[in-house]
Amino acid sequence: MTLQEAIKARHSVRRYTDKPVEKEKMDAIRKAVAEANAASGLNIQIVINEPKAFIASNFLHIEYGSFHGVRNYLVMAGGSGTEVKEKVGYYGEGIVLLMQTLGLNSCWVGLTYREVFGAFKLRPGERVHCVIPFGYGENEGVQHNLRSPAQFIEADAHLHLPDWFLEGINAVVLAPSAVNQQKYAFSIEDGNVVSARTKFSLIGYTAMDLGIAKRHFEIGAGPENFTWKK
Ligand SMILES: Cc1cc2nc3c(=O)[nH]c(=O)nc-3n(C[C@H](O)[C@H](O)[C@H](O)COP(=O)(O)O)c2cc1C
Repeated sequence: MTLQEAIKARHSVRRYTDKPVEKEKMDAIRKAVAEANAASGLNIQIVINEPKAFIASNFLHIEYGSFHGVRNYLVMAGGSGTEVKEKVGYYGEGIVLLMQTLGLNSCWVGLTYREVFGAFKLRPGERVHCVIPFGYGENEGVQHNLRSPAQFIEADAHLHLPDWFLEGINAVVLAPSAVNQQKYAFSIEDGNVVSARTKFSLIGYTAMDLGIAKRHFEIGAGPENFTWKK
C-alpha cells in the first residue's frame, strides 16, 4: 500500500483485537519514531502491552472516545507552543500513515485517555500533547463526513490552480482532525509557494490539525512540486 492509498484507507479505529503486532512491523514503527524524533526534537514514545490508558473511567468516555482493546499506543510528547503542536501533527501523521501501509489501524486521541504513571518518561519542559493507539482493529473505521475541497482553498477566482495543488487539497479533505473540525485553509503564492493557516476554533487543537493536514497535502501534491511559505 502506498502513502496515497493509506490516506484513502485510513479512518479512526476505536476497537482493537488482541492480535499482537508482528516484530517486523514493530521494527518499522520504531525506526519511523526514531527518525521523527531526530528530525523534530519531539519525544515520541511507544508503549506496548499497557491497557490502563484506555480503561473507561470518566465522564468524557461517553460515545465520543469510547475505546476498546487498546494495549499499544504512541505518546506524542514535546515542549510547548504552536510550532511544537504543528510538529506533533505533521510527524505523528507520518507514523499513522506508515502504520496504515503495514495493515494496522490507529486513532489520534487528545482527550479521551489517561496518562499512566511509569509507562513513559517526559524530559523537563515536556508534556503529552496526544496519544495514538494502534494495532489490529476490529473494523477499518468509517469515512468521516467529507467537506468540499473548495472549503480549504483561499484563492482569487481568476487564479488558475495547478493540478498538483488540487491533488494536495484532495488529500487534505481526508485528514483526521479533532472532532472532524478541519479548521484550516491553503493558498498558493508566486507559482509554487504554498501557505497554510489555521482558522478560529473554540475547541483548540488547530495547530496539531494543521500539521496533520500539511502532511496530507505534501503526499497528495508531491513534495517536488512546491515549497511551504516560511
Ligand atoms: C488532534 C486530534 C485529537 C483527537 N482526539 C480524539 C479523542 O480525544 N477521542 C476520540 O475518540 N477521537 C479523537 N480524535 C479523532 C477524530 O475524532 C477523527 O479524526 C475525526 O472525527 C475524523 O475522522 P477520521 O479520523 O475517521 O477521518 C482526534 C483527532 C485529532 C486529529
